[in-house]
Amino acid sequence: MDVTARPYPYARTSPFLEPPEWAWIRANEPVTAVKLASGDPAWLVTRYEDVRAAMLDPRFSRTINRPGASRVDTGYKADAASPVFTFGGSINEPPGHTRWRRIVAKAFTQRQADAMQPHIAAHTDQILDTLTARGDTFDLMADFAYQLPIRVICDLLGIEVDNRPEFTALAAKLTRRDMQSSFADFGEALGGIGRYAATLIARKRRSQGDDLLSKLITLRDEDESQLSNEELISTVILLLMAGYESTAVQLGNAFYALLLNPTQLALLRERPELIANAVEELLRWAQMGTGFAVAKHATADIELGGVTIPEGATVFVSLGSGNRDTSVFGVDAGLLDLTRERAGAQIAFSYGPHYCLGAALARTEMREAISRMLARFPRLHLAGDPGDVVLASNLFTYYPRELPVAVGGAR
Ligand code: HEM
Repeated sequence: MDVTARPYPYARTSPFLEPPEWAWIRANEPVTAVKLASGDPAWLVTRYEDVRAAMLDPRFSRTINRPGASRVDTGYKADAASPVFTFGGSINEPPGHTRWRRIVAKAFTQRQADAMQPHIAAHTDQILDTLTARGDTFDLMADFAYQLPIRVICDLLGIEVDNRPEFTALAAKLTRRDMQSSFADFGEALGGIGRYAATLIARKRRSQGDDLLSKLITLRDEDESQLSNEELISTVILLLMAGYESTAVQLGNAFYALLLNPTQLALLRERPELIANAVEELLRWAQMGTGFAVAKHATADIELGGVTIPEGATVFVSLGSGNRDTSVFGVDAGLLDLTRERAGAQIAFSYGPHYCLGAALARTEMREAISRMLARFPRLHLAGDPGDVVLASNLFTYYPRELPVAVGGAR
């Protein structure tokens, strides 16, 4: 298979079928040179173990907006000359990232996710109540998947109920690619959220709540240093950028995957105790972030997977391909199996120092959303032909733009 002749990322026909090139590359040249649509070169890392090794290796830098970076296409650079691939400034790289992460990890704990569980359950039920009242059909993306994560982020940030519509509108402009027509729109939305975050932080400094943002304001690291105002603003923006559309799209893909696999859906209905493993398998098989993969810059010549990636190269580390590696997940890795024993080894939340800070929270959201939706609507099904579902893809994600479903009565 002449994979180098085809521009990366490879064409796909479904969020769930991996491009055939991935399997070939994993088997034959697990770390391989690829060509971007611009004609510029890059490297692709595909095997599970190499992906994890790359994620742990500090010589692969997250800051790819450097002179000479490969261009994704002729329109803009892999660095995108913008925060599209990279956001966070001083909190992006060590030592700033290490210090930031040490502080915020004190607030983002399993305990905190557990404490939010009843609120997440209540939000889910409230959204389902609205849908139940509405009638037989709804769009599972707009009416459900995009509704829950933003409410959870509002809880995290302690945004008062009256202010939530304004914040939600700003957040949608910043994070939802379908609401941006240009980088200028993105820049404007970033400015809007930055100003909102500054005001919110000032308000929290005067009057602390029991939300995560209030906690972040007071937390200190071992050296007694606190997050600066600028770091707090970056953190608010990062939580939105990383936690809103990702969770919405992941929820959408998870439901779409279940609806396309009625036997698996029936199994989960029969055995609701499978939900935790089911969520791991859905993160693996119906992963939202399988577009370009995580982009890195090689700051040195680096040996990986039997080749030397040269210093200065742009490198795409494919969590999506790693999640389909048969040596880890079995020969049937291409199938959805909610009982898969090694599902928990999935790497949809990445690996290493940038491992998703919101992973515990996202898992709780997915468990509550799926369990409660299935319990509420015993006859949930796609409203039309599966072929009619319009898919959306961008640099990172591939998901149903709309997911019309019918419920045939609520429980
Ligand atoms: C199912 C939904 C989610 C998925 C699949 C996901 C996936 C990811 C991935 C792959 C990364 C690592 C990117 C890299 O290696 O550069 C990441 C980082 C991050 N995620 Fe998530 N995420 C999800 C939900 C959330 C939520 C709900 C939050 C918080 C509200 C969140 C906050 C973050 C933050 C702050 C980072 C950056 C961590 C760092 O750089 O140290 N994520 N996420």
